[in-house]
Amino acid sequence: MPLISEFMTSALSPRHAQRLEICYLSQINPDDGTAVKHGFSQSPKTLPPRYLYDERGSQLFEQICELPEYYPTRTEAAILANCVDELARLTGPCELIELGSGSSTKTRRLLDAYQALSPKLHYVPIDVSAEILVASARDLLDAYPSLFVRGLAGTYEQGLAQLGASSQAARLVLFLGSTLGNFAPAASDRFLAQLAAALAPGDYFLLGIDLRKDARILEAAYNDRQGITAAFNRNVLAHLNWRFQADFDLELFQHRAVYNRDAHQIEMYLDCQQACQVHLAALAWTAEFAAGESIRTEISRKFDLAALSQVLTQHQLVPLQHWQDAPQWFAVILCQRSAATASRDR
Ligand code: TRP
Repeated sequence: MPLISEFMTSALSPRHAQRLEICYLSQINPDDGTAVKHGFSQSPKTLPPRYLYDERGSQLFEQICELPEYYPTRTEAAILANCVDELARLTGPCELIELGSGSSTKTRRLLDAYQALSPKLHYVPIDVSAEILVASARDLLDAYPSLFVRGLAGTYEQGLAQLGASSQAARLVLFLGSTLGNFAPAASDRFLAQLAAALAPGDYFLLGIDLRKDARILEAAYNDRQGITAAFNRNVLAHLNWRFQADFDLELFQHRAVYNRDAHQIEMYLDCQQACQVHLAALAWTAEFAAGESIRTEISRKFDLAALSQVLTQHQLVPLQHWQDAPQWFAVILCQRSAATASRDR
């Protein structure tokens, strides 16, 4: 792995140059499309969720967060507003790292609380959309004069591998928006193992998760009446079109989101209305779609708090405290990385 200092740094305004560093991890490790080819070879066809979040996708997701039907963002924000002071008291000063930071709107509540604890305020956002990363870092630097931002533009895996030394005694990794639910159980296990390995004993992990509830509420949240979620879902194909010079006809694919009660997960599909061939020129590869065939673009698991707490503990991320809204639709869990056991020591 090359050193951070070898990474490209973006052109910065002098006002921000001393307090902002952007590392373009995905340029060091260009996307060769292996995951897309793999996903399209599965049955049903699938796609890694990160392709939902190009610049346009990230903007559409911001709109989803404002929708009346999409309760998770505002519920989590309200929980955070109520708990950040207690959270900061529990952890003490921390370097803040955020996975899938997006617009960093909710992060402001945390920055406020941690700013009150220590004059040194360091924030490391990790996001696959470099455009959103840079834009929200600039907004934050304007709002927080003592803030330093080191943005990592890349996947969670790439970002976690590049954390380097902490600027504070402890780290707090933020993983909000129930994004953990977008991983299938096996991928979630791999992710938690990688996260635990990137943390030192004593470091913290703050996880926002959506809980099980009436299926009608869940299905409405992923089938909004304005069709923003449908546009967001379909945009994944527009992303493949520019990234891999593909020729998806977006009109042929229809959004569908259903709650799978047995698996406790929302499943998001794009249903192909008509048999077609799609050529991905940059991958020198053609995918065949039958009429009525679906691509599963996302799952969003809905959690049982007790069961998830066990899984976290098994990964040496021990829940210390959790906070919920009154109807218990959503939870925010603070975990601490436990000391390495003998078998895990290197
Ligand atoms: N993490 C979000 C969730 O699971 C992602 C999400 C919200 C999403 N709405 C979506 C993903 C629509 C795909 C399509 O709720």
